[in-house]
Amino acid sequence: MTRAEAAQRVAELRERIHHHDYLYYVEARPEVSDAEYDRLMRELVELEAAFPELVADDSPTQRVAGTPTDVFRPVAHQVAMLSLDNATAPEDLLEFEARLHRALPGTRLAYVAEPKIDGLGVALLYERGRLARGATRGDGRVGEDVTPNLRTIRSVPMVLRGALAEVDQLEVRGEVYMPRAEFAALNKALEEAGEATFANPRNAAAGAVRQKDPAVTARRPLDIFLYHVSRADALGFETYWDTLTAMRAAGLRTNPRAERHAAIADVARYCERLERERDALGYDADGVVVKVDALDHQRRLGSTTHHPRWAIAFKFAARQATTVIEAIEVGVGKTGILTPVAKLQPVELAGVVIRNVSLHNEDEIRKKDVRVGDTVLIERAGDVIPYVVQVVTAKRPAGAAAYAFPTRCPKCGGVAFRPEGEAYWRCMNSACPAQLKERLRHFGSRRAMDIEHLGERVVEQLVDTGLVKDVADLYTLGVEQVEALERQGEKSAANLIQAIADSRERGLARLLNALGIRLVGERVAQLLAKRFGSLERIAATSETELAEVHGIGETIARSVAAFFAEPTNRELITKLKERGVVTEAPLTAAGPQPLAGKTFVLTGTLTALSREAARELIEQRGGQVKNTVSKKTDYVVVGEAPGGKVDDARRLGVAMLDEKQFLELVTS
Ligand code: IVH
Repeated sequence: MTRAEAAQRVAELRERIHHHDYLYYVEARPEVSDAEYDRLMRELVELEAAFPELVADDSPTQRVAGTPTDVFRPVAHQVAMLSLDNATAPEDLLEFEARLHRALPGTRLAYVAEPKIDGLGVALLYERGRLARGATRGDGRVGEDVTPNLRTIRSVPMVLRGALAEVDQLEVRGEVYMPRAEFAALNKALEEAGEATFANPRNAAAGAVRQKDPAVTARRPLDIFLYHVSRADALGFETYWDTLTAMRAAGLRTNPRAERHAAIADVARYCERLERERDALGYDADGVVVKVDALDHQRRLGSTTHHPRWAIAFKFAARQATTVIEAIEVGVGKTGILTPVAKLQPVELAGVVIRNVSLHNEDEIRKKDVRVGDTVLIERAGDVIPYVVQVVTAKRPAGAAAYAFPTRCPKCGGVAFRPEGEAYWRCMNSACPAQLKERLRHFGSRRAMDIEHLGERVVEQLVDTGLVKDVADLYTLGVEQVEALERQGEKSAANLIQAIADSRERGLARLLNALGIRLVGERVAQLLAKRFGSLERIAATSETELAEVHGIGETIARSVAAFFAEPTNRELITKLKERGVVTEAPLTAAGPQPLAGKTFVLTGTLTALSREAARELIEQRGGQVKNTVSKKTDYVVVGEAPGGKVDDARRLGVAMLDEKQFLELVTS
């Protein structure tokens, strides 16, 4: 291939990849398979490697390309990034309108209302359609240049399309945020890796945008909504609504929930509706931003030094409350992680009574300086678990001492240890009964060995009486032993023993997940089971070989190898095998796989079959079941009393099946 031919092909590939990025990340309606997309990307990477002089900043291969930096360059905003005036009640909206009428007598007003995203404000600068700079809001006048980080966000276009691509200097503003489901998954992964978690999606997003290394930002699931074009009137737009349309056409992601209304009463109704539905949005919104639609009106209204006069933020009711910390208790997880939990004076927060709130780890407690007796402000954002925002130091009782993290396990008295560079203290006693209880609970849980009737109380009793010293001991239990436990009838004892017996056949993937190996959850367990086929083979595989499995990587490989290197764990495996637990992958009857490559999300209750049974039906036929709806989901199966996933499906245009349609599909 000549250089000229390569240049032409590179240009073509970039254009196509940008186009597919747009369809996928902005419009949520991909036109090509992931495999086809990967093929285009691979071809481009190879061509750029062969002709390095063709690499350009705006190539899709360069999303994760910046080098780590120590300091961010300051960026002076040409137009200040102002705050917003607040409205907390519908009357405030009426007053807002009255003010507008006083300033613009005799004009007919219209409004655009859209969710106020609880994220991080940023400004993107496009020069003739190419992303030239991305900056944080900072103090509103001067922000920080975080271009390499913002470039890693896949819904931030590197090149614009259409008319806006012709503009010499186009500044658009928006909010970077982390979707709730992704936030939860990130925290889970961080926790499993022993790293500090984030209190809420906003902190996680802000931390990611201000990462020194763009490669780290790239691994954080960020997204963006754009909501402003600076000097839009000079570009010939007459209304904000038209500007939004043009932004969308340029490939800039705008909020699909934006609405235009002429009457302020309709705006107020929109605010009420959105507040009711805020949990179903999939991201944190703390209110509604109401903007005067006509740009000429905006110009005439102008701004104070603090906020534009043409916009107002209707704030949703705070989901915050203050209460008192009565005690700090430390719990032990299945891998020995010690988690401090604050016991609160019960307080109602957004319809739920809160009694406990996790304090996460030692550093969190120290950072917030949380002490027993303190009055704290707690918050519950969306379906996210409550957390301590801050201590109300003015109310601190005299003599409240700084909290000292225990250096011994509060459950077994064993030595606790905090490894260098990790956020968590761990109980180092492998015989710690509290850890064993957690391991048993996890072992029997639905996604693991699925042992029905192995409830909290039985687990306590089995461990406390010494009947069970490791998970393999479950398989030696007899009905009489269980029956002899307090408040256990013959029937329930028999049920439990039967459930334990049945669990022997769950197969390798579930067993691996059930063992509670650090960093081995359902997904990794499946990868390992598929690749190696038996527990013995995994135990005999070196760390290096494990790391070569696609999707495993060094850290997980290290953890798996460490688990199997431990003599007690090897003994455990021998015992499980001796006691009839299947340690091999089930021979998947290579039946027809009509659902291969299809992903499903289940929501609500099905009448003919349990969720587990539905999952099995799908998996047997080659499909996958996921917990959250994304653009990649093929079907959402909707049972009775479904949750917010239906809204997600509707928003993303994912096909929905009722139970009948679902059964037809899987059995056809
Ligand atoms: S409009 C001049 N729209 O809220 C344009 N702001 O409290 C004014 N925000 O600094 C901003 N969602 O970071 C606008 N849909 C939205 C927004 C939004 C979140 C943030 C923005 C602003 C802050 C003010």
